[in-house]
Amino acid sequence: MFVMSIWCSSLSLSSRSLAIAMVACVALLYFSYSFNVCLLASISRCLQQSNIRNLLALSSSTHNESTESGGSSNGSTSSGNSSTTSTRGPPVQTVTVQTGGSLNGAAPKYQMLRPQGLRPSRHLPDTLIIGVKKSGTRALLEFIRLHPDVRAAGSEVHFFDRHYQRGLRWYRHHMPYTIEGQITMEKTPSYFVTKEVPQRVYHMNPETKLLIVVRDPVTRAISDYTQAASKKADMKRFEQLAFVNGSYSMVDTNWGPVKIGVYARHLERWLLYFPLSQLLFISGERLIMDPAYEIGRVQDFLGLKRVVTEKHFYFNATKGFPCLFKSEARSTPHCLGKTKGRNHPHIDSGAIERLRDFYRPFNDRFYQLTGINFAWP
Ligand code: A3P
Repeated sequence: MFVMSIWCSSLSLSSRSLAIAMVACVALLYFSYSFNVCLLASISRCLQQSNIRNLLALSSSTHNESTESGGSSNGSTSSGNSSTTSTRGPPVQTVTVQTGGSLNGAAPKYQMLRPQGLRPSRHLPDTLIIGVKKSGTRALLEFIRLHPDVRAAGSEVHFFDRHYQRGLRWYRHHMPYTIEGQITMEKTPSYFVTKEVPQRVYHMNPETKLLIVVRDPVTRAISDYTQAASKKADMKRFEQLAFVNGSYSMVDTNWGPVKIGVYARHLERWLLYFPLSQLLFISGERLIMDPAYEIGRVQDFLGLKRVVTEKHFYFNATKGFPCLFKSEARSTPHCLGKTKGRNHPHIDSGAIERLRDFYRPFNDRFYQLTGINFAWP
């Protein structure tokens, strides 16, 4: 009995120590597993960080190359714009890589694109609205920039006529941020009539696409005069300014509002540098009557999907012009500003007739050059 009890107690002792040993084993296994998992995770984090550092180093060197060659201000195509190539067809754009805080100036919506790997940057324009003043250039710009693939400088930059000496780097800085596939656009209507501009645009990029809105030159001259008169209280009457010596016999071709309307002369200068296929003429009259039609032509010309359609416009009877349901800047229906669509003063019908006769041969020449009959009276 005694032996039996000793045997029993020794058995229970060994099974207890076996149980303890097993628990200790399991605990050891668990701790070593957790340790290994932590170790692997930290190794993989380290590897990722070193990859990112390498990528950033690479992209920052690309950025430096790009800005150095793109920042030249000597006005030549090859060195002046690293972001375009001079092969035929639409200019090929390279997206300038920007790192670190260089996107601080970009719109918040662009900053949101960053995690998706899209890096917005500024580029010289691919397309210019070069004129003609008072023909509907603002309407054209506001309408075409409804397109998500078009980004435009907000105000007239006047680079090629007033600020050319500041160089292409300065010009590019005035352009909006774009991402790959978006068109950069600028409008300065005085480009069309400034002698030096065609050559300068050609030197920036011979592939530049040119948009020109034209309107009956007589109405255009009156619109131009109306704008000038709105800024000067004691302005002479239109009839006194448009003719030499106050009689209708001789048109004053040196007076700006008359001179600008001789479209054929200005166009001939542009055609010395650009083929007609790179120019699109938009009818100012039709832009008012049927904006969707003209904007459709512009989208085709720029190789864009037809996104801006009649759904974007409504006719405001009070204003007498097409207006927009919404735009990039405003989400409510609105028209162009007060300075667009002004009431014109009454002009003597004799003066108008005389001006029509004056413009007729120039208009015919313009129809001939463009291959379009605008049917101005
Ligand atoms: P008026 O103000 O003489 O009517 P620009 O933008 O080149 O200065 O041209 C101004 C002209 O654009 C206006 O001249 C107007 O006739 C024309 N225009 C075309 N579409 C317009 C629109 N939707 N709203 C206002 N004006 C428009």
